[in-house]
Amino acid sequence: MKQLPIIALDFESADKVNAFLDQFDEPLFVKVGMELFYQTGPKLIKSIKDRGHSIFLDLKLHDIPNTVSKAMEGLAKLDVDLVNVHAAGGKAMMEAAIKGLRQHNKHTKIIAVTQLTSTTETQLHEEQNIQTTIEEAVLNYAKLSQQAGLDGVVCSPLEAELITAQLGKDFMKVTPGIRPEGSAQNDQKRITTPEQAKQLGSTHIVVGRPITQSDDPVKSYQIIKESWLG
Ligand code: C5P
Repeated sequence: MKQLPIIALDFESADKVNAFLDQFDEPLFVKVGMELFYQTGPKLIKSIKDRGHSIFLDLKLHDIPNTVSKAMEGLAKLDVDLVNVHAAGGKAMMEAAIKGLRQHNKHTKIIAVTQLTSTTETQLHEEQNIQTTIEEAVLNYAKLSQQAGLDGVVCSPLEAELITAQLGKDFMKVTPGIRPEGSAQNDQKRITTPEQAKQLGSTHIVVGRPITQSDDPVKSYQIIKESWLG
């Protein structure tokens, strides 16, 4: 799987996505999330693939195992590079997700969201009734994902070091919350630079606004790419 920084295409229409992609003349690795997929669906995925880009389809599936398995059978046909589920759906759900995906597809990687980075320790304790630290909860879900046979997890770069130590460096750690030195933090709470993410063991970084909202997206992407690839 390509190590390029994954650009989060958080745009509300296919036109805006196309205008953004028109600026680049090289193959990219992009992330399509719920906002875009619910509006534009498989058609947009096909057109991004036809332009030669790799795709992380970030739909975070979470339902009973049978439903997730069938949904993955459908997503498998889109032939993207990376898909994901919520680890909170449980080991049986994650195993069913893999089974569904592999009906039609041998190469798409599948990872799990551990704890959303928007979850605070207070919420973890008081709402989810999980009486551990965030790090322990994330590590627990990462272990469960590995036992279920997944290829990795989405996590904060600040959790990547611990996950690498416990689960190995090949287990994917796909990390949002990336900000180059001097760029706006926006609503992200726990951020690192691309270089720090690499040092902490991230295998892939996800970067949105520092590129998509930049005055010069191509230049911002090149700077991030160089500092990530080293
Ligand atoms: O613009 P920014 O770089 O903050 O975008 C990060 C992307 O990663 C967004 O699409 C956001 O939804 C996603 N993401 C995240 N934190 C997570 C999971 C996904 O920021 N834990």
